[in-house]
Amino acid sequence: MRALSRVGEPVRWLASRARPRRGMGSSAAAGGRRDPGENPKVGRLRELFTGDAADGWEKSWEFGVTPWDLGKPTPVIEHLVRSGTLPKGRALVPGCGMGYDVVALACPERFVVGLDVSDLAIKKAKQWSSSLPNADYFTFLAEDFFKWIPSEQFDLIFDYTFFCALDPSLRVAWAETVNRLLKPDGELLTLIYLISDQEGGPPYNNTVAE
Ligand SMILES: C[S@@+](CC[C@H](N)C(=O)[O-])C[C@H]1O[C@@H](n2cnc3c(N)ncnc32)[C@H](O)[C@@H]1O
Repeated sequence: MRALSRVGEPVRWLASRARPRRGMGSSAAAGGRRDPGENPKVGRLRELFTGDAADGWEKSWEFGVTPWDLGKPTPVIEHLVRSGTLPKGRALVPGCGMGYDVVALACPERFVVGLDVSDLAIKKAKQWSSSLPNADYFTFLAEDFFKWIPSEQFDLIFDYTFFCALDPSLRVAWAETVNRLLKPDGELLTLIYLISDQEGGPPYNNTVAE
């Protein structure tokens, strides 16, 4: 497995209104000291997570509390697609939400599976994308990343704000699941946004080491 960790990608749900505190500029390896909870939409999102996490995600989609949603593919994915450096074959986007990245990655040489635990997210993703010219090269499935068993492993897994959105108690299971789903020579691309010293989630505190 080749793991690429790219740090510093702008993530709207954290960055838009989170106020950096003094001294965070030099603390990248330890995690930036910012509090996404200062963004009212993130605060609202967190209020939905009082019980079962899957239920919290479904509610976020139902009430339109999706502050992470860029409304377009993650810029770095568009860049990497243009550069032609990403693995071809089969790609997986866990926690795909509206699926912009799924669509951006899909092409005749690369079939992409977008997975989300929320039925509503998957319904919305299918609605906007089903008649696109490259629709034969992607699919959306309403499945739990941790329980889903595909028929084949993947050449590429692209995780964008999925890992950091999961309760930290699931991190080992996340790693085991990635390992199970990825081919031995596959590539894992995880975009994390470093935050520390803040309470709760999602998103949760995380470090490069994690
Ligand atoms: C922070 S959002 C990121 C969405 C998307 N990657 C984006 O950038 O627009 C996290 C997504 O993960 C989904 N999710 C959470 N737990 C999941 C699980 N166990 N299996 C699959 N999807 C999950 C949520 O429904 C939500 O759409």
